[in-house]
Amino acid sequence: MPNTRAETRAETLHAEGVSEDEFRAAMSRLAAGVVLVTAQEPPFGEDVGMTATAFMSVSLDPPLVLVSVREGSRMDDLLDEQPLWAVSVLAEHQRQVAGRFSMKNRISDRLLFADLPYVRGELSGAPLIGGALATLECRTESRTAAGDHTLVVGRVLSASVPPGEAGPLAYFRGRYRQLGA
Ligand SMILES: Cc1cc2nc3c(=O)[nH]c(=O)nc-3n(C[C@H](O)[C@H](O)[C@H](O)COP(=O)(O)O)c2cc1C
Repeated sequence: MPNTRAETRAETLHAEGVSEDEFRAAMSRLAAGVVLVTAQEPPFGEDVGMTATAFMSVSLDPPLVLVSVREGSRMDDLLDEQPLWAVSVLAEHQRQVAGRFSMKNRISDRLLFADLPYVRGELSGAPLIGGALATLECRTESRTAAGDHTLVVGRVLSASVPPGEAGPLAYFRGRYRQLGA
């Protein structure tokens, strides 16, 4: 039996809580940019990538970003032991990149990187994808468990914006989109 009003309320909310479908549907209406998070298995091992929309800027001074990674995913496990990682902000012509790095239960990403243009970040050693709208190299400042995800806050070590006029790759209502003219 609950002892306090707060406990009663928590249980009520849980009992009447939002369903996964309702939650997913509501969040699918939040248009998001799409990024590729990358890191290299230490020491000097295989490269790993993960398509993500749960990425945001957190702080300007110091420059911090955050990515939310599913607990137990390959990227979560890798970032637990590799503090250096990178983010490539994908352009509208990079749907295939997003698609291949979101496939479930991959064992190796070696072939996924094999025909992809990238350079290795000087500070992170992580792949920076050619044709991306922007690339950032980061060092993990904190990891916080949040439900079934880990919030990874990274200090931005470098940020660059290659020349080019391509638009962003966006994700909205479960589909990749380009911004209208
Ligand atoms: C558009 C899109 C956005 C995604 N955003 C995230 C995200 O922000 N965080 C995350 O952990 N997974 C996200 N995913 C799922 C991962 O890309 C996917 O689970 C992962 O690459 C598969 O590896 P795993 O089997 O180790 O989970 C997203 C997938 C798609 C298609």
